[in-house]
Amino acid sequence: MHFDWDPDTFATGITAMDDEHKVLVGLINALAKNRGTENRDLLESILKTLETYVKNHFVHEERIMRRMNYDKFQAHVAQHQSFIRMLKQIESEFQKQTNTKAVIETTLSFLKEWLSQHIMVQDKAYGRFLVE
Ligand SMILES: [Fe+2]
Repeated sequence: MHFDWDPDTFATGITAMDDEHKVLVGLINALAKNRGTENRDLLESILKTLETYVKNHFVHEERIMRRMNYDKFQAHVAQHQSFIRMLKQIESEFQKQTNTKAVIETTLSFLKEWLSQHIMVQDKAYGRFLVE
């Protein structure tokens, strides 16, 4: 599993957001690349970086959507909140140290889904809204 950031697939048309999405794709690739490792510290540091990055990114994205009076702002924010809840759940499962591999696999399918459903659909939608 490896994602190449390409504009047709991922671009919202808002450069600052696209740049942040590129970093996210990179973090997802890093997790995928290390999915089989026994090194829990490495996995933990990727998960922590992802969590921090995502939270900051959502703040930026929500600021832009608010500024442009995006009509689907509330629904979009609700998706961000559920993403953060999911990451917290993942984090607590990871801390149990019982089944690291399964936790990482679940995380990867969740992130893959996020790329294809959220970034490729919902984020592109606010990009179009801004252009119109
Ligand atoms: Fe978003």
